Amino acid sequence: MTRRHLKEEVALKSVGSDNRNRRGFLQVGAAAAAVAVTGVGKPATADPGALRSGKSGRSHDSINIGLVGCGGRGKGALKDNLTVNANMRVIALADLQLGKCESAKKLVETEFPEAAAIKDSDMHEGLDAYKAILGNKDVDLVIFATSPGFRPYHIDEAVDAGKHVFAEKPTCVDPAGYHVCVAAHEKARANGTAIVTGTQYRRQANYIGAVNKIRDGAIGNIVSATTRYCAGGVWYRPRLENMTTVEYQLLNWMHFIWLSGDQIVEQAVHNIDAMNWVMGSPPESAYGSGGRFTRQQDSQMWDNMAVDYVYPGDRVVSFMCRQIPRTKSDNGNVIYGTKGTCTIEAMNGGSRIVDRNGNQVWAQEGNIADAYKQEHKDLVDSIRDAKPIVELLDTANSSLTAVMGRMACYTGQKVTWDFVTQESKLDLFPKDLRADSSLPEPGHAVPGKTQLI
Ligand SMILES: NC(=O)c1ccc[n+]([C@@H]2O[C@H](COP(=O)([O-])OP(=O)(O)OC[C@H]3O[C@@H](n4cnc5c(N)ncnc54)[C@H](O)[C@@H]3O)[C@@H](O)[C@H]2O)c1
Repeated sequence: MTRRHLKEEVALKSVGSDNRNRRGFLQVGAAAAAVAVTGVGKPATADPGALRSGKSGRSHDSINIGLVGCGGRGKGALKDNLTVNANMRVIALADLQLGKCESAKKLVETEFPEAAAIKDSDMHEGLDAYKAILGNKDVDLVIFATSPGFRPYHIDEAVDAGKHVFAEKPTCVDPAGYHVCVAAHEKARANGTAIVTGTQYRRQANYIGAVNKIRDGAIGNIVSATTRYCAGGVWYRPRLENMTTVEYQLLNWMHFIWLSGDQIVEQAVHNIDAMNWVMGSPPESAYGSGGRFTRQQDSQMWDNMAVDYVYPGDRVVSFMCRQIPRTKSDNGNVIYGTKGTCTIEAMNGGSRIVDRNGNQVWAQEGNIADAYKQEHKDLVDSIRDAKPIVELLDTANSSLTAVMGRMACYTGQKVTWDFVTQESKLDLFPKDLRADSSLPEPGHAVPGKTQLI
């Protein structure tokens, strides 16, 4: 399978919902009967302009959703969307495992019966399952919540198919994926289709309030900042009996860099995105260090990294991330200015500003659950108002900023934005992905040995 055109014949399919056993996860075999792969690459949906103006040619003016990746966040994104938007229908589901589709279908039917319109023949399994969603002319909006490595290529094909998109973060895990995102962003703008991304903090009240106060000069000129995503461990899904290496890595995706990007990209992109937003651009360079104390033997992930990002104006953002059990968590951002300091806590921690004497001069609360919903409201409103939001570029920039920090740590070199955007040849996605493909021996990065490419 090439990443642009996942081959129909790959037909990775599951035979059940039990993911504790390999036969229930992925299996090489005949194509799933439900998958009719046709027309991908051509605008298959109703003309987006016609949909927005209520002249879609369909017999209803609801917005029809297809979900690709029916795991934890995929189902969460569906719930968020259906909670805040009226007249939505969920009509198609895709996942590596049919059991995950069945679970998402049950969720919609139980909690949002008015939106439930999923026929069994519109549930698709396997690596090519997303193609059936993109080829379904009745799908208007596709939600992508697979493991991140697929994201740029799925988004790009969705834009070519004329679909509106909600894409979970991160949107790329390497420079090759970044360039695909940049091109997809431009195509979506030209198409008039929307792309909203899962960087929910950009829609959280205390973040928006803090950025507005900083823009208004409440802390004076920004001098520097610290940002941290330090947490306990992360899940690990052991290899099941008789799994191929590809099947195993797809299941345990967090631990393989071509799929997750490592913690700095998969998780801490939220904080890095907030920093790019506050600073007004991506940084110029990154220099960092880190390592691993607690990861399982076959995991490629590190469990700690610290990166100094230098932004224009020689302003340094000191970044740290960690996933080590029984350590103190810290997930927040502190921005230091000539007149005061602004603290923006993640989750529901709120924001506050103190002046140089330590007196609190401003504070605001925020709620992450509201922010998760707001992104779906903004997306659907923008489609219905014929003013499609296209925000992929900002999130691709933040994802690449995280990648740049990882590359600096893995190699022990100083890495510049110019290098990652113009010179780097790093392209992690396997060239011919099949259930029985051989993949390079993973191993983990070692500074001084791992090359900067
Ligand atoms: N915005 C947030 O705060 C937030 C929170 C959690 C997760 N996420 C993001 O959401 C994404 C999914 O995370 P999750 O926690 O739901 O993971 P998950 O493992 O629970 O779910 C991923 C699902 O995608 C399926 N999948 C993988 N590759 C696929 C492919 N090529 N085609 C179809 N289906 C495929 C898997 O089978 C699985 O069911 C990740 O990018 C993650 O970073 C975002």
